[in-house]
Amino acid sequence: MGLDRAASIDDLRALARRRIPRFAFDLVDGGAESERNMRRNVEAFKDIQLTPRYMVDVGQIDTGVTLFGKAYAAPFGMAPIGMLNAFWPGADLTLARMCAAENIPYTASSAASTTLERLAEAAGGNGWFQLYVAGDASVTEGLVARAEAAGYDVMMITADVPAAGKRDRDIRNRLAVPFRFTPEVLAQCALHPRWALTSLRHGTPNVANYADLLKSATSYAEVQKTLITPRFTWEDLKRLRERWKGRLLVKGILHPQDAADCADLGCDGIVVSNHGGRQVAFGPPTIETLPAIAHAVGGRMPVLLDSGIRRGADLLRAKALGADFALAGRALAFGVGAGGAAGAQRAMEILKLELERALGQLGVASFGAVDGSVLSPAPLRHDAR
Ligand code: FNR
Repeated sequence: MGLDRAASIDDLRALARRRIPRFAFDLVDGGAESERNMRRNVEAFKDIQLTPRYMVDVGQIDTGVTLFGKAYAAPFGMAPIGMLNAFWPGADLTLARMCAAENIPYTASSAASTTLERLAEAAGGNGWFQLYVAGDASVTEGLVARAEAAGYDVMMITADVPAAGKRDRDIRNRLAVPFRFTPEVLAQCALHPRWALTSLRHGTPNVANYADLLKSATSYAEVQKTLITPRFTWEDLKRLRERWKGRLLVKGILHPQDAADCADLGCDGIVVSNHGGRQVAFGPPTIETLPAIAHAVGGRMPVLLDSGIRRGADLLRAKALGADFALAGRALAFGVGAGGAAGAQRAMEILKLELERALGQLGVASFGAVDGSVLSPAPLRHDAR
């Protein structure tokens, strides 16, 4: 199967799986422990039904959304993904450029394999920055100051990594930083020569924003320890709110009270997220937590959602249940894995065309007009009889 015959994000995942050595594919494809939460994220979306209405003029479909004062072409952006160049060489820049060309937001991870400055440039004004709060306040401040200087005006602080996620696939694959060329890794590389050669040309990926700090790190867990503190609290968030003049989002919210507290503290938005099921296996899928969170926020700030978006219709489901915008992580990453820049483009095209088609089928011409009334079973309007 070639890219042009890939009909869905699942097809792109299957293509990526064939092209990428197992240890690198699992790095992106895997989730925490039993992976129950990761699977539930995707399944829970499928369980939400929307009821089409017909005989509505849907000749002109509008997928645009204005968020934080900027008009975007589609109601989703790229979620922050660390170390993505290990999955496919050059993936960070490829996705940042694709997002700029398609006019959707691109979120540069603190743990990206490309510096935040280069990603800001590639994203051409569509860049958002994701911050991990480090144990050493000067490391955090260094990143915030760099993000400010690079021109980012949206910063997203990730709250859901108080402890590193336990990802069984990575343990089994003996994933190490920097990569160790064990006989097993070499054998997997030999079976995927295109990946191996491209990787050789690009050099070993690292966590570029902290390159100096991490020179002596020998494990992924050690890298996480430097990057992310288990002591990040509301007090720190308050300080960061005062420090950051741009829009401030908190990513990783699952509890309605945490969402309400973010609004009270003056945040500009939240991302309802469980990190794509990479942190805990026991948690709820995000789409199931969304209605109560949207209710708690009560329209005081935009609510974004990620974890499990694989279809254009998932964007409608999220909107119907109270999200203003979404982020896609693996959906776009699988595209790059399946075919570099052309694959990223194909993933974007699949999601956008699915979204447009679903809006038409639903009988709602504009994404902005999707609300809870499309949820199935549709409530009977006795008063309108
Ligand atoms: C992530 N995610 C993530 N989040 C974050 O805030 N900073 C990061 O560095 C990373 N790194 C990362 C690496 C990989 C390989 C994955 C798959 C995910 C989480 C990411 O932003 C997002 O929440 C999920 O990817 C959403 O779930 P889906 O769309 O992948 O199902």
